[in-house]
Amino acid sequence: MHIITDVNEMQQRCLAAREAGRRIAFVPTMGYLHEGHISLLREGRRRGDLLVLSIFVNPTQFGAGEDLDAYPRDLTRDAEMAESAGTDLIFAPEAQSMYPGGYATYVDVEGITDTLCGASRPGHFRGVTTVVAKLFAIVQPHLAFFGQKDFQQLAVIRRMTLDLNLPVEVVGMPIVREADGLAMSSRNVYLSDDERRQGLALSRAIALARQMARDGVEDGGEILAALRALIDGEKDARIDYLQICHQLTLQEQARIDGDSVLLMAVFVGKTRLIDNSFLL
Ligand code: PAF
Repeated sequence: MHIITDVNEMQQRCLAAREAGRRIAFVPTMGYLHEGHISLLREGRRRGDLLVLSIFVNPTQFGAGEDLDAYPRDLTRDAEMAESAGTDLIFAPEAQSMYPGGYATYVDVEGITDTLCGASRPGHFRGVTTVVAKLFAIVQPHLAFFGQKDFQQLAVIRRMTLDLNLPVEVVGMPIVREADGLAMSSRNVYLSDDERRQGLALSRAIALARQMARDGVEDGGEILAALRALIDGEKDARIDYLQICHQLTLQEQARIDGDSVLLMAVFVGKTRLIDNSFLL
């Protein structure tokens, strides 16, 4: 396994691999890997000939006052985990080489970026789509793997890939959870023991919503009211958003159906956790 920091070297290697007929599987991340990332790498290993992982804490997707500086980083540990999962190349550029002086180009997906995380974190998705478009241009992947925990991000990247005719198959992979139900996230390290316990309110809320849906409750408002009460029961939890939306348009739904997805972002202390689930 090789770690490459230089943008041109990375692009040359990937272009050569494509010309040699190798299928490039790509897992873009911000590092501090966990089992969720490893599940993407394993699927990439299974489906591709050359498995590329990028590790880049992308400054353009963080807003003022967010955790860019505090975001956990450990390239040595990440490299060990990536190698065990069969990664061939790690691309770990510096911010300066991704966004050199004079950089002026951004990718903006309209509409579905206005709600949910897009409403709470203005400019976030513009940063995500810009860096993913750049990474696609550098890595030239046939396949790119993203976790469904970032449900809206996955929808936005699918939209961008379709709209810009990018020749990449975007593959969404199921959420990986800790044994107690907490969705895996690099940001979980911010949680104290007590906050981590309170964070389980998100997966408990999902279980309750799915149970209500199975029991025949179709009124989204009734389900959300029950979930709000559950989450508000935790002293350090503050709901950022809690919505039931159509899985493709991300428009809110008053009545649930087979396309309904429950999406939530909840601050537990200072840490913002996100989670989601289909209801039926
Ligand atoms: O999901 C992430 O880790 C990031 O948003 C991504 C897709 C790697 C872009 O920086």
